[in-house]
Amino acid sequence: MTCSILVGGAWGDEGKGKCITYLCGNDKPDIIARAGVGPNAGHSVEFNGEKYGLRLIPSGFVHTDAKLMIGAGVLVDKDVLFKEFEDLKKYNVKERTFVDPRCAIITKDHRERDKKSEHLAKKIGSTGSGCGPANSDRVLRTVKLAKDVPELEDYLADVSLETNNVLDNGGDVFIEGSQGFALSLYYGTYPFVTSKDTTASTFAADVGVGPTKVDEVINVFKAYITRVGEGPFPTEISQEEAESKNIEEYGVVTGRRRRVGLFDMELAKESCRINGATQIALTCVDRLYPDCARTQSYDDLSAETKKFVEEIQSETGVPVTIISTGPDLKDTIDLRKELL
Ligand code: GTP
Ligand code: IMP
Ligand code: MG
Repeated sequence: MTCSILVGGAWGDEGKGKCITYLCGNDKPDIIARAGVGPNAGHSVEFNGEKYGLRLIPSGFVHTDAKLMIGAGVLVDKDVLFKEFEDLKKYNVKERTFVDPRCAIITKDHRERDKKSEHLAKKIGSTGSGCGPANSDRVLRTVKLAKDVPELEDYLADVSLETNNVLDNGGDVFIEGSQGFALSLYYGTYPFVTSKDTTASTFAADVGVGPTKVDEVINVFKAYITRVGEGPFPTEISQEEAESKNIEEYGVVTGRRRRVGLFDMELAKESCRINGATQIALTCVDRLYPDCARTQSYDDLSAETKKFVEEIQSETGVPVTIISTGPDLKDTIDLRKELL
């Protein structure tokens, strides 16, 4: 029985999509449950030569024997959900996805309020997906829940009950967090944050799994940092410098150019502490150190890269168990057997 939670270590877009796809394809959990805010997320999954940008369906969908679940704490936009059912038709996603009846529903009104709000759209730089206004209505206790939406009737299941039953019967549950530590409403760069806490404890609560049931917290960091939207970014570099290092990026949900910065050890330490991280996954190592592209063994990494990895490990006190050296699932160094 293993219950794992995967979290983002910085401002989102750490490459959680690739890590989840690799880990779920490899470990084959019985349930893959989505936690986090809602469809403001954009997870990139590259699989079998195709690329998907997912906002709501768990990125672990590639493991086709798993049940896919959306926990009660996650905001659901049914248009996004049904579009992803269509996009992922060949993976039978519609037939094995379940939504907790207690999920709050994002409506057109929430999306419009998000996009029209000077404060959210301009000052904070929100994704415009309606998440902030929907969470605000949830707090005011006026939001509609999934159990009251007839189109969702066929997909409803008590996600807390299902996940706990699997764990009690010796099965494995993988919980996918979204966004990232520095976007947390409590611990992030307030007010330039998202509309909910985004640390492991909240992700467990989103799905309805208690803290005593959680075995592993995998904190994902990119070898450099990106941020979309406004707010402080201590290690930010100029766009020209990012281009010269070949680490410029564009967002999955909004297409916005991402701000780019260097790895931030202080942020990494705080993120590991508050998430209670037991493992670190480090992605896009090849983009910072091109000589490591597609490397599949730790021994073959350059001395400079190994030094970077070892420094992260010694400063945070958390083992770097997964090193991603390219977008393909094969471009992964998995050190879990050696380090855990
Ligand atoms: P989350 O929001 O954390 O889920 O990240 P993401 O999956 O959304 O990341 P993003 O949208 O920034 O996409 C990352 C892109 O980089 C995708 O096309 C991935 O396939 C790709 N990618 C992931 N890991 C690596 C890596 O280690 N090296 C390289 N070169 N590309 C990667
Ligand atoms: P909101 O969550 O749409 O309200 O956006 C608030 C802030 O969080 C903005 O700066 C967004 O760019 C950022 N944000 C929300 N979700 C993500 C994500 O999944 N990745 C990166 N940034 C995000
Ligand atoms: Mg993303």
